Amino acid sequence: MTDLLDNPETTTVEAMLVRGEKLFNEAQIYFGHGTTNAWDEAVYLLSHVLDLPPDADRSLLGHPLSATQQSAVLALYKRRIEERIPAPYLTGRAWFCGLPFTVDQRVIIPRSPIAELVFNRFYPWCDQEPQRILDLCCGSGCIGIACAYAFEASDVVVSDISPEALSIAQLNIAEHELDSRVRAVQSDLFAGLAGETFDLIVSNPPYVDARDLAEMPDEYQHEPELALASGDDGLDFTRRLLREALEYLGEAGVLVVEVGNSWVALEKAFPKVPFLWLEFSEGDAGVFVLTKEQLSEHRESFF
Ligand SMILES: C[S@@+](CC[C@H](N)C(=O)[O-])C[C@H]1O[C@@H](n2cnc3c(N)ncnc32)[C@H](O)[C@@H]1O
Repeated sequence: MTDLLDNPETTTVEAMLVRGEKLFNEAQIYFGHGTTNAWDEAVYLLSHVLDLPPDADRSLLGHPLSATQQSAVLALYKRRIEERIPAPYLTGRAWFCGLPFTVDQRVIIPRSPIAELVFNRFYPWCDQEPQRILDLCCGSGCIGIACAYAFEASDVVVSDISPEALSIAQLNIAEHELDSRVRAVQSDLFAGLAGETFDLIVSNPPYVDARDLAEMPDEYQHEPELALASGDDGLDFTRRLLREALEYLGEAGVLVVEVGNSWVALEKAFPKVPFLWLEFSEGDAGVFVLTKEQLSEHRESFF
């Protein structure tokens, strides 16, 4: 890598991308923070240096790169490989629901399949347009902010226990000029939301079980552990959430929660609860819907 940095030979955008693809494949870096392959990873980093939009035209492939641009791209490739830092932490920018978000290591990198639900405006789970929405465990605020775009008349609360995460969420709210409709609240679960009710509570909480946590690739070590770990079976947080959510849902309220691989443990823990597991176009799993009515009917299961 040092030779590569000292003596950049590549001259075009395409050649630099081919080089990145080869280097990333050889180094066997892990993808899972916005891209799924070495070529896209190289595009992500190079686009940042050239300040290109994500949908930049392919005609740019033949463009020459200056020596400064080549050095800047190669420096990012090097850090990506040697330090295993996910690309969005290197660029400070991630994309969710087609929207840009500022990120750094105080928040996880947005990647929830819930994006697809937001795109589809939670059809058919929200009979009526939700007026009050809570993004519980908001991290960067990506889900709540995307909801505010999807439901233009809604008021949104984004909450997180971490003041560091909330400062990033606040930054994103300001960058999207949504201060009048999106409010960031520090809260351990619902503790800071007493007396409030919501038509839609959506949450991508910590849900990684102890075994998965121990086996996660190096890239995940750059993300806050508070955002990932949730006890032996990954359900410490979700158990609390299921006990308390009812009180914070309005009439006809809906709860949407991501639990990833921990869905198996959740089914086992609450066999009588009719979790509705959603299907996603990319094949993701582990997101359930429960209505207020269902939570109420099964409230005793959660204690
Ligand atoms: C998996 S991240 C999700 C972030 C964001 N929703 C997203 O999809 O990118 C989980 C978030 O839950 C927060 N968190 C952890 N424990 C919490 C708690 N007890 N109450 C509220 N938030 C908590 C973490 O700080 C972290 O930002």
